[in-house]
Amino acid sequence: MCGIVGYIGNKNAQDFLIGGLKRLEYRGYDSAGIVTEDDSGQPTLLKAKGKIANLEAKVAKAKREDHAGIGHTRWATHGEPSETNAHPHQAGSIYLVHNGIIENYKELKSKLSTEHNFVSETDTEVLAALINSFYQDGKYPLSNAVVQALKLVRGTYGIAVISTLNSSELVAARAGSPLVIGVGETETFLASDASALIGHTKKAIYLNDGEVATITANQINIKTLDSQPVSARVETIQTDLSAIQKGGYDHFLIKEIMEQPDSLAETLRGRIDLENSLIRLGGPNLSQQELKNIKNIIIVGCGTAFHAGMLASYYIERFADDVTIQPVIASEFRYREAHIPENSVALIVSQSGETADTLACLREIKSQGVKTIGIVNAIGSTIAREVDGGTYVHVGPEVSVASTKAFTSQAIAMIMFGITIAEAKGAKKSLLAPYIEEIAQLPAEIHQLLQTVPGQIRPLAERYAKYDHAIYLGRDTAYPIAMEGALKLKEISYIDANAYPTGELKHGPLALVDDRFFELVLLPDDHLLDKSISGVQEVLARGGKIFAITNGEIDLPADSTLKIDTKLKLLTPVLFNVVCQLFAYYVTIAKGFDVDQPRNLAKSVTVE
Ligand code: M6R
Repeated sequence: MCGIVGYIGNKNAQDFLIGGLKRLEYRGYDSAGIVTEDDSGQPTLLKAKGKIANLEAKVAKAKREDHAGIGHTRWATHGEPSETNAHPHQAGSIYLVHNGIIENYKELKSKLSTEHNFVSETDTEVLAALINSFYQDGKYPLSNAVVQALKLVRGTYGIAVISTLNSSELVAARAGSPLVIGVGETETFLASDASALIGHTKKAIYLNDGEVATITANQINIKTLDSQPVSARVETIQTDLSAIQKGGYDHFLIKEIMEQPDSLAETLRGRIDLENSLIRLGGPNLSQQELKNIKNIIIVGCGTAFHAGMLASYYIERFADDVTIQPVIASEFRYREAHIPENSVALIVSQSGETADTLACLREIKSQGVKTIGIVNAIGSTIAREVDGGTYVHVGPEVSVASTKAFTSQAIAMIMFGITIAEAKGAKKSLLAPYIEEIAQLPAEIHQLLQTVPGQIRPLAERYAKYDHAIYLGRDTAYPIAMEGALKLKEISYIDANAYPTGELKHGPLALVDDRFFELVLLPDDHLLDKSISGVQEVLARGGKIFAITNGEIDLPADSTLKIDTKLKLLTPVLFNVVCQLFAYYVTIAKGFDVDQPRNLAKSVTVE
């Protein structure tokens, strides 16, 4: 949430800052700003409300040849989106950009109000004023002032600070909000996400919580808040430029949907032994005995990651028969006084690896001595670094705010983890083999679906785009897909879409059915198909507009029906989900909304 960039070197700082902010725009996009300094420290501060393009236009009219600067793209927490509230914030000679939330900002603000005239409503300006009060016009080193200030702060932050009194250094610090330093030849970069560094350098140093870095063009000096020196761990960024570009598609969302055959193949690479019907996951780091002892699995995630966990839980309980599974929503679980039984393992699911609620659960669960396994996409992210073991899903950068390819791979990675538990517990090969075979076939099945369904679903999406409300229905493994499908539709098309288990209709949702709604019903050809059809009949009898998605032979007077062709029997819901993703995409195109950056949302939710 929010993006930070920084540059110091011998090239044009504005160019890197604007380019970097564009890459990070998915993290927040209600306002943006940069400040650069010339070699004598003369600052140029530019801010704009709205998207980075607005800021870029201002920069084009105020071009500078400055070699140092910091920038920010904002997702508002304190104060409305406006130029005044946009970062960087200034206090004296200090400029600051900040991700996170300073919880005790009111208390600090009242203490500082005699020495600083606050102009914004932000917690960030309070931190700038606090740093400035310790800096005392350059009497103390900037890094010391930052450390003194941070010692008084409660909350989360990733910050970058520069002073007009010294244009040859910038200071960065983190607690709960990621920052990565890019090491160049005679230049150093800073960003809240490595994607801003791609094409500039492959060498990265990820800051840890409680670390403060003093950065010049040629040197990076990292210390803890207690002044202990930290030796820099330089890692290699593997992602290349093509992975973060649209590659000929109109939007990242459709690119990421279409990428799923390949991204899932990456998740599976080297992990399936079809000949011996075995799953081989190295990352969880659990011995056969530890796997055998597992009696309880907690799956923790938010939004789409939670839905992936829900889907996986339905499958895992089919073959790991003495194991109980609880998928939990991280923002709820972190404040519950849940009892975690002995022999539990927790799957921590996150595309970004930075989601604040999920990270808080990880820390809490770990502190109780429970083994934590990450199901994470972003390599080197905080969750990936803090879990005891894990399985990267390897889907590559997911840029669109609506998560798509991550869902498919998260669900399958968790199902594979469930299979390894079942294998260790001695489950019959005949029980597991059909699942393993279908997992192996899934990339090709998704590929086949993507050849035909986009063309079929587009006119249907155009038909349903006029509705304000939608009910998504599914049962068993199709219920988590209904939840995920409804989330996708609501977050990008703003249609009020909610999911219910088909069997729950008579317990309340049936009362909603009227001509303001359409009902999207998932009907996999499984042991519950007839029961699901009965539920649909009840909706039809009340004048409902049914849009049925099925792979079975059904005879329903639905408003429309989309039939999927597939050889799969067990994993068809994963295909249904791809159909729902396409549906949400084309509805949103029909309504003319911003597909990749829906209003009020950001990609990575690093604040509570
Ligand atoms: O990065 P994470 O997987 O932890 O993110 C979790 C949710 O914030 C995310 O899935 C969100 O719900 C998406 N916008 C859904 O499309």
